[in-house]
Amino acid sequence: MKTVDTIKEVREIVNQQKMQGKTVGFVPTMGFLHEGHASLIDKARQQNDFVVVSVFVNPMQFGAGEDLDSYPRDKQHDTQLCQEHGADLVFFAQVDDMYKKGFCSYVDMDILTKELCGLSRPVHFRGVCTVVNKLFNIVTPNRAYFGKKDAQQLAVIKRMVLDLNMNVEVVGCPIVRESDGLAKSSRNIYLSAEERKAALVLSQAIKIGMEQVKGGETDCKKILDKMKQHIENEPLAKIDYVKAVDCDTMQQVAEIKQPVLFAMAVYIGSTRLIDNFYTEDV
Ligand code: PAJ
Repeated sequence: MKTVDTIKEVREIVNQQKMQGKTVGFVPTMGFLHEGHASLIDKARQQNDFVVVSVFVNPMQFGAGEDLDSYPRDKQHDTQLCQEHGADLVFFAQVDDMYKKGFCSYVDMDILTKELCGLSRPVHFRGVCTVVNKLFNIVTPNRAYFGKKDAQQLAVIKRMVLDLNMNVEVVGCPIVRESDGLAKSSRNIYLSAEERKAALVLSQAIKIGMEQVKGGETDCKKILDKMKQHIENEPLAKIDYVKAVDCDTMQQVAEIKQPVLFAMAVYIGSTRLIDNFYTEDV
C-alpha cells in the first residue's frame, strides 16, 4: 500500500493502473476511520483491481460554527486501517492543493439538498458535491462507495452522477453499528459517557420504526410519532428532524407506497447525530 498527499501523485499512480486495464474502486472519507469506513473498503476490494481511499476533512462542507477545527484526525490509525483492509493507495489530500488560491468553482444542487440535513446545514451539500466531483476527477474511479449511514449524501451523489453524466458507478453500503446499536461515526468520540448512553435513543427509535413497517403500518405520521415519542423521553436528546422521504428525491411522503427513507438528526448534548432506515431493507 502507498500513501501520498498530492493530486499529482494520485494521478500518476492511478494512470499506471488504468493503462494495465485495472478497474479502480474509490472510498472517499474524512478520516478518523472506523469499521463503517472499513466496510466500504472491503466492498471496494471485492469488486475492483485497485482500491483508493481518500482522507480529507473538507473545509467547504462545514458551516460557520460547525466542528471543522475539532473534527478528529489520526493519520497513523487511518493508514493502518486502510492497510489491514487491503487498500492499494491512500490519498491524504491537502487543503491548499485541493483549493488553489482563487478557487471559485462549485457544484451545487437543488431540491434534494433543501430537505433534511440541508435545512440546518445550508452550505453542506454544495461542499460535498464540489469535493466529491473534484475527487472523482482526480481518482477517475470505475466505482465509488458511500455508506447508507449518510442516506441523503448517497442520494445527492447518485443524482449528481446522473445529472452531470459522470462515468462512475455509485455503490451504497449498509450502516455498520456498535454492538449496542449506535451507528458508527467519527463524531461519536465527542460524546461523554452519559451522552453515549443517551445516544442509544436514535437506534432504538429506528428499531421502533422498523417494527411498525414490519407489522404492516403504512401511515408515515403514525410511525414517525412513535419514533419521536421515544426520542423525546430522553432529556439529553433534542430532535433536529425525524422524517419520511422518497428515497431518491428526499421529498416528504405521507404513506409507504414506494420505497421510503425514514431519517433523523438528533442532538445529544451539542453533538449532532444521524441515523435512518430504508423500508426496502426492513
Ligand atoms: P465520512 O463521514 O468520513 O464518511 C465517509 C463514508 O463512510 C461515507 O460514505 C459514509 O456514509 C460512510 N460511513 C460513515 N459511517 C458509516 C457507518 N457507520 N456505516 C457505513 N458507512 C459509514 O461522508 C463523508 O465523510 C464526506 O462527506 C465525504 C463523502 C468524504 C466528502 O467529503
